[in-house]
Amino acid sequence: MVDVDQYAVFGNPIAHSKSPFIHSHFAEETGQALTYTAILVERGNFPNAVAAFRATGGKGLNVTVPFKAEAYAIAEAHSSWAMRACAVNTLYFVDGRLYGDNTDGVGLLRDLTHNLGLSLSGARVLILGAGGAAQGILQSLLMASPRSVFIANRTPIRAHELARRYSDLGLVAGGGFDSLGEAQYDLVINATSASLQGETPPLPDGLLAEGVWCYDLMYAATPTPFLRWATEHGAEKVADGLGMLVEQAAEAFFLWRGVRPTTAPVIRVLREHNQQYNQ
Ligand code: ATR
Repeated sequence: MVDVDQYAVFGNPIAHSKSPFIHSHFAEETGQALTYTAILVERGNFPNAVAAFRATGGKGLNVTVPFKAEAYAIAEAHSSWAMRACAVNTLYFVDGRLYGDNTDGVGLLRDLTHNLGLSLSGARVLILGAGGAAQGILQSLLMASPRSVFIANRTPIRAHELARRYSDLGLVAGGGFDSLGEAQYDLVINATSASLQGETPPLPDGLLAEGVWCYDLMYAATPTPFLRWATEHGAEKVADGLGMLVEQAAEAFFLWRGVRPTTAPVIRVLREHNQQYNQ
């Protein structure tokens, strides 16, 4: 048997992960010999599971909920993205050291600018939510030269603190949903987990500027409650996080293999699956 390099995604839950499909597609397209599996890791067992994977010859890992902070903690070296977000979604071994990176922000930016054709330069950006998902995307958004970024969160103190941590990168402020007032935005990104409860954060009616784009980091077979709200309130364009999922995977693949896969065909196939699933 020919030995092939092993990769995996660790999470809990993990059964519905699309990562094995995405990475197998990338491997086939780029002619890279590798295996990629989804592994359910028990809470509390993450460091042991990484060590065991490494001992059996594993080369790299993707890390998803709820282990991104633990992955950050066990990594021996970090990229600037991981360092800033205090979270790691990509692990790999370089000369025996465990290296941690975070490709979520780059993935979002690539989906927004490359796939969807949006320019962030000069845009007024609103991020809903101040948890791990918001934290993972702030650096890349601020580096794209928006006019300003406002973080609105149910618990205002978390938004204030997050804004303070990133204030050296651009004009960023935070507050509660009630502080949104009459301001208008060109791009609104939902980084809350409210969709999981079938909810939308309480947003003022006049929030969306003309031509506004609304993006939900989550994706589902049907539009999320936030994207339905956005459409009802006149958003020019709405998009869910499927493109970001594929783009963050492509960036991880590039870190591991040094080859950049093409993402458009994978995004298309996943969308078609979602639509069939929906019928
Ligand atoms: P994640 O890592 O997915 O971001 P998290 O750190 O638990 O998860 O953060 C979830 C985010 O969604 C938080 O900003 C949370 O607001 P709080 O900080 O006030 O908890 C937000 N959130 C969750 N449910 C929400 C709801 N029903 N309405 C508005 N915001 C919600």
